[in-house]
Amino acid sequence: MIQFKVNGQEKTFDGDPEMPLLWYLRDVAELTGTKFGCGMALCGACTVHKNGAAIRSCVTAMSDVGGAEVTTIEGIAPMHPVQKAWMEIRAPQCGYCQTGQIMQAIAFLKDNRNPTDQDIDTAMSGNICRCGTYQRIRAAIHQAAKQQATAHPSTKHPATTHPAKHKTAKETA
Ligand code: FES
Repeated sequence: MIQFKVNGQEKTFDGDPEMPLLWYLRDVAELTGTKFGCGMALCGACTVHKNGAAIRSCVTAMSDVGGAEVTTIEGIAPMHPVQKAWMEIRAPQCGYCQTGQIMQAIAFLKDNRNPTDQDIDTAMSGNICRCGTYQRIRAAIHQAAKQQATAHPSTKHPATTHPAKHKTAKETA
């Protein structure tokens, strides 16, 4: 029995411990904001947070999230500075990669509040965008960093809320 949290909700899982977290999130928890891309941790579309750090959920086994706090795009505050900047800059094109890009950017900005272009390019290098939105993603991250500095001048981590509204009959909460 694996016990963990998803977006603030307590969960238990007694299926195959080798099942990828991504399958649980999409098929069991029905949190479909997290996308399947390559299945090999090469594209970043499946990025979520485990205890605040960005991970690739397609290669993370359920056995690896025992006792952890998992956060998906659905668990991020609706007007998080990164999402706000994404909207203002109009970063997405088709949008498929963008939830992974946002989750990667949020984790990155927790540790780097005033990133350079090089910092951003390095941190985001594992998140592939087939539409080539890299310039706008970089601009959005710069803007989000400024917004976070203004909104949270003395704290390192911006507020994150957990709507906790995605419980389904298939889950054991
Ligand atoms: Fe289309 Fe990134 S916006 S893949």
